[in-house]
Amino acid sequence: MESNIVFSELKPGKLKSVKEGIFKEVQAKIHLRGNNWRPMKYNQHQSMVYMVARLDREYADLVRVFHEIKARDPEFKPGTLFDFGSGTGSVMWAANTVFKNSIWEHFLVDNSVEMHDLAKLLLHGGDPDGKPHFKNVYFRYNMPETLRYQNDLVVSAFSLFELSSKSERLEICEQMWKRTKPGGYMVLMELASKTAHTVMMEARDHILK
Ligand SMILES: C[S@@+](CC[C@H](N)C(=O)[O-])C[C@H]1O[C@@H](n2cnc3c(N)ncnc32)[C@H](O)[C@@H]1O
Repeated sequence: MESNIVFSELKPGKLKSVKEGIFKEVQAKIHLRGNNWRPMKYNQHQSMVYMVARLDREYADLVRVFHEIKARDPEFKPGTLFDFGSGTGSVMWAANTVFKNSIWEHFLVDNSVEMHDLAKLLLHGGDPDGKPHFKNVYFRYNMPETLRYQNDLVVSAFSLFELSSKSERLEICEQMWKRTKPGGYMVLMELASKTAHTVMMEARDHILK
């Protein structure tokens, strides 16, 4: 596809074919984005690439979502945060940006050692010996088996889609829901695609049934 097209200068027949070409290209990209699932294990390199490519955008999306909660429920002041598939820790950063000086405990679950290492480095301002930006941050590799207490804010951002099966996703959602305190919020987020929308609807229907 040419990149410097001046649409107003195109004859009607040419304009129609250019529009059809753009439409096909967009459809192909949407299809690829929704159907290229493969198991993903984040090693050190992939974690760094993920951070560079997606951290700022995900942080921005999460801040927006938490602001929506705050606008609708100004009294909501989460004390504890639970994040499944925590990766670089973007949920923790975004939640603390919006709910300032409110969260006193953070529970981050991710099965990648390297993602945890990166999240810890960011937490300490890039210096392993530096002071952490937030207090009481606990890193875990698995969803805890026992349920000792519930959390005010329970989140999974861009991680459910990476699980290998519907039953695993629904099991994780159920666990997350059990960990959500009455009056708290459970937030599920995925990148916009038709498949991710299906994943979200499955999770919502399962929890609400
Ligand atoms: C796309 S990343 C999202 C990361 C994070 N929410 C962020 O914004 O940086 C997905 C994360 O889910 C983690 N993950 C995938 N499967 C998991 C599982 N079964 N248990 C725990 N974490 C998992 C990956 O290691 C990865 O860090």
